[in-house]
Amino acid sequence: MASKLSKAFRALAFGFVALFAASSLPALAQQPTSVNPTAQSVKEEQLLQALKPGAPVAGRISIPDKQAANLIQPGRDWRAFNQETLPKLGAYSLIGIAFVLVAFYALRGKIRIDAGLSGMKILRFGALDRFTHWLTATSFIVLAITGINVTFGKFVLAPVMGPEAFAAWAGFAKLLHNYVGFAFMAGVVLTFLIWVKDNIPNAVDLQWFAAGGGLLGKGHPPAKRFNGGQKIIFWSVVVGGFLLSLSGWHLLFPTAESIEHVQWQATLHGTTAFVMIAIIIAHIYIGSVGMEGAFDAMGSGEVDLNWAKEHHSLWVEDVMKGKRPAGNAAPQPAE
Ligand code: HEM
Repeated sequence: MASKLSKAFRALAFGFVALFAASSLPALAQQPTSVNPTAQSVKEEQLLQALKPGAPVAGRISIPDKQAANLIQPGRDWRAFNQETLPKLGAYSLIGIAFVLVAFYALRGKIRIDAGLSGMKILRFGALDRFTHWLTATSFIVLAITGINVTFGKFVLAPVMGPEAFAAWAGFAKLLHNYVGFAFMAGVVLTFLIWVKDNIPNAVDLQWFAAGGGLLGKGHPPAKRFNGGQKIIFWSVVVGGFLLSLSGWHLLFPTAESIEHVQWQATLHGTTAFVMIAIIIAHIYIGSVGMEGAFDAMGSGEVDLNWAKEHHSLWVEDVMKGKRPAGNAAPQPAE
């Protein structure tokens, strides 16, 4: 009797177990059997690692945007650069160049034409030269102002203008920056094409540098169409302009690139921009108020013959001998 009861009990127990197992089958089938689920979870240690730059925690995702797999997007380095290092670099370069120019003016004053005005004019830059110069120059100045606004606007303008007016101006400035960039790119390409042949470094430039460009002492070292200092300006505009254009293009059209790549382009763009702005401020000073007679070259295109003889003696000789055209080459009586 006892053994019959025990058999019935075991059969009942087996039935229950089988029933329970059958009802649990779908759930069990969904569990990965070969993987320990806890090993797949993000560990605290990994999260702490993610706080260190360059060690992102990435999970698994099935959507096309691979960036979405990162728990924390990379960018700590870049944010620190953009919010601290770049404004510092920008401020140092702008204050630095202002200091250099004030010191230069205090030491040298305005650079005069030693022999005085001759009353004779010589064509220095034709229409294409001037068009190219002013296309590059005006677009660069607009880009510099609207670009500086990105770095300094919120510290300098926003407190003065108020948040709404600053937001409206910053939105407009950004649009302007994006579109005017194309005019600058065209200007840089034209600048390179029309002036590269006169900007290849040569032995005359070494003499010019050895004499300090005649900037501080008396007298003027000989120079061809462009002197050593101008060649530095030319190559800064060409190389700097190329880097700005390339990185700017990537920032305008960042499709299918990683976030690090875009951040790298932004770093290159900002750094090159501030270096170039400082160089160009010095150029604008010398090309306008810093040197008597210089602006005419890019204004009317004609400069005083004595200015040309003092600053570009070898170029004047070549033009006089008919070795090279300078627009209408021969000196013209001033009107
Ligand atoms: C108001 C602003 C500017 C003024 C008054 C100015 C003035 C001048 C002048 C007078 C020259 C001819 C120098 C000569 O006869 O030898 C010149 C040349 C040149 N400018 Fe400008 N410029 C200005 C802005 C710019 C800007 C923004 C750029 C480029 C981003 C630029 C790039 C050049 C280059 C590459 C040359 C030829 C190389 C040289 O002479 O240094 N300029 N500029």
